[in-house]
Amino acid sequence: MTGSSSGFDRAVAALGSARRVMALSGAGISRESGVPTFREAGEGLWEKVPMEEVATPEALRRNPLRVWEFYEMRRENMKSVDPNPGHYALAQMDDLFDELTVVTQNIDGLHQRAGSRDVIEVHGSLWRVRCVDDCGHEVDPFPHPAPEIPPPCRCGSTLRPAVVLFGENLPIVEFERARRAALECDVGMSLGTSSVVWPAAGIPLVAKEGGAFVIEVNPEETELTAHFDVSLRGPTGDILPRLLEAVRKHRAAGKGRSQE
Ligand code: APR
Repeated sequence: MTGSSSGFDRAVAALGSARRVMALSGAGISRESGVPTFREAGEGLWEKVPMEEVATPEALRRNPLRVWEFYEMRRENMKSVDPNPGHYALAQMDDLFDELTVVTQNIDGLHQRAGSRDVIEVHGSLWRVRCVDDCGHEVDPFPHPAPEIPPPCRCGSTLRPAVVLFGENLPIVEFERARRAALECDVGMSLGTSSVVWPAAGIPLVAKEGGAFVIEVNPEETELTAHFDVSLRGPTGDILPRLLEAVRKHRAAGKGRSQE
């Protein structure tokens, strides 16, 4: 299912004449690569592992070993994982626009591996670590498996995964860049996110407030579906390659921005 064909056509027309595009991605875009999502019934990560035990600053203080084991497990699971057609189609869209900014909540690095050139990681990265006491020391990429956990920092403290835990602020520079890309884009896309974790969830709404046409791609309705101009129902691995193809044809037919 891909939503109504007119919704798809409207999305193609908007992308066809866009110069600047911002795409917010979530766990859904990596699902077809075999990376579990967080909140899907029966299979979401937070259904299997209590988030409070592994993904909060309190957990990190109380039991850093447990937090490290969780992120080491996620790094281990990523070993056999590759980008899927959704990541690749989005990366190929780079050539269609003057600017395509991918703002991702994902920490798996799959957009970069697929070839996307401008990726802003607003929730950090599985592959980077930093000093738990903010001495400024960072290691990127950090070897897997970690030589010891928690690993020592050169300042005498320890290192932690450079991911945004629940209750922590998003990195200021990345979030500000993401907000600006959203404000300035002609088309904003929300790809495979349940849109429940803020402030990242609100980024497509910033795009809309800035006057952009906004498109959601998700097999399910989300809390923010009503705010989008078009919602395309289906997996990103199916819809993004079809959008890429259709926008290319649209441009080749002389429609889109050359006629503006
Ligand atoms: N293609 C596109 N979307 C999909 C697919 C697919 N093949 N399969 C599932 N989805 C959708 C689901 O319908 C759901 O709306 O992906 C979404 C996944 O939602 P979540 O599990 O809540 O993931 P996400 O939105 O990325 O979570 C946000 O929560 O725990 C934190 O830090 C974590 O960055 C994460 C944040």
